[in-house]
Amino acid sequence: MVKILVTDDDKMSLMMAKRVLEKKGYQVLTAENGKDCVITLRREKVDLLLLDVEMPGMSGLETLAQIRKDAATADVKTVFLTSYAFQENIVEALRLGALDFVKKPFMADQLYDHVEKALRMGRKSVLLAVDDEPMNLIMTKRIFGIRYQVETAQSGYDALIAVKKIKPDVILLDLHMPGMNGLEVFEKLHKLEECENIPVVFLTADEDKDTEAKLFKEGASDFIKKPMIPEIAIQRINRIVENRYMQESLKDEVYRKTEALQISNGKVKNLVNQIMFALSGAIDAKDPYTNGHSSRVAKYAKEIASRMGYDGQELEDVYAAGLLHDVGKIGVRDVIINKLGRLTEEEFREIKSHTVIGARILERISELPLLSIGAHWHHERYDGKGYPDGLSGTSIPEIARIVCVADCYDAMTSNRSYRDALPQKVVRGEIEKGLGSQFDPRIGKIMLDMIDEDPEYAMKEN
Ligand SMILES: [Fe+2]
Repeated sequence: MVKILVTDDDKMSLMMAKRVLEKKGYQVLTAENGKDCVITLRREKVDLLLLDVEMPGMSGLETLAQIRKDAATADVKTVFLTSYAFQENIVEALRLGALDFVKKPFMADQLYDHVEKALRMGRKSVLLAVDDEPMNLIMTKRIFGIRYQVETAQSGYDALIAVKKIKPDVILLDLHMPGMNGLEVFEKLHKLEECENIPVVFLTADEDKDTEAKLFKEGASDFIKKPMIPEIAIQRINRIVENRYMQESLKDEVYRKTEALQISNGKVKNLVNQIMFALSGAIDAKDPYTNGHSSRVAKYAKEIASRMGYDGQELEDVYAAGLLHDVGKIGVRDVIINKLGRLTEEEFREIKSHTVIGARILERISELPLLSIGAHWHHERYDGKGYPDGLSGTSIPEIARIVCVADCYDAMTSNRSYRDALPQKVVRGEIEKGLGSQFDPRIGKIMLDMIDEDPEYAMKEN
């Protein structure tokens, strides 16, 4: 059974981790401070250590440093639990061989995923040492053996075979070898699929600057001078392996975050759409005879805009503007909206006010300014005889000119309480007559094209 030791001074967090992991079938041991953690590890062989970073007394980093010093516990795979933006000590944590970080408070699934991942990847990093001198390989094993799984190859040829088989995390490559020298091996490595990104550190007794410059130019990660000084060699190799690991976990993190962001963006977008549809439904409910008017106007407006060259998000915005153009009717009394006979001047003034009321309501949606603009001026006429401001020509915002045409088309082609939809020929005639007076001629002509492409009169309300 996989055994996990969780160390955390926060009892709640400790209990939760224990419950989650036991549910998944792991055996869970707990410790409430660094000291107990170290003692438990000396007593019990565990497969994974989950270690809180912030603990009173001995911190998580101090605890892990102590664990690494003791040969009996040095190898334990460790994942840190972090409750704050853990940035400044991340390098130290990685240097100590932390495999991963779990942010607190954690969700059960999230903790489980991290644990599974750590158990899978929790092995020693693999170092492939390539040297034609057997003594050098023995030395390398001695120097790196505690921290790394050291594999060896005595020639360039052997190295190329071994690399494919073991996929090392780093290669320590002797520059001067009989047969195939280090640089030739390096060039061939670059051409091997999946191996081209493995960092290579050259080992050379050369003192000249040209060799140094050449190696870096070829893409070497670093080089170490012979004879190897263990402290320096270990630090150089560690740094490279840590950088690589950090890059990979960063890549994973970016991928995870991007995915989460896309999901939440999608949810927000859905929510916005649902709210807009609910609102447009509320407008249509004021006048049951024109039910569906808002969504039809939105559909026509979007089609017109796409023929004008709008695309992507712009088209979605036009659709939304069409959907909500009459939202101001919410502020107009039902008796007036539903009145069948002629409206008095006073009543007509109230009806007209839906443009300004709508604009005021939609102004608050500052992310989509087209909504307010569309509602405000969709009853303006191209010849300046419309309302509420008597704007004319292109001084009427384009979105309002588009909604205006779409709105009038639907008004004529939908069934009203007092009449059926007008015949298509009549509708076409009215729009044609309105070019340059009621409608922007360019937009009106697009509507005429749409009508002409619809001999079955299928586009109207059904
Ligand atoms: Fe309107």
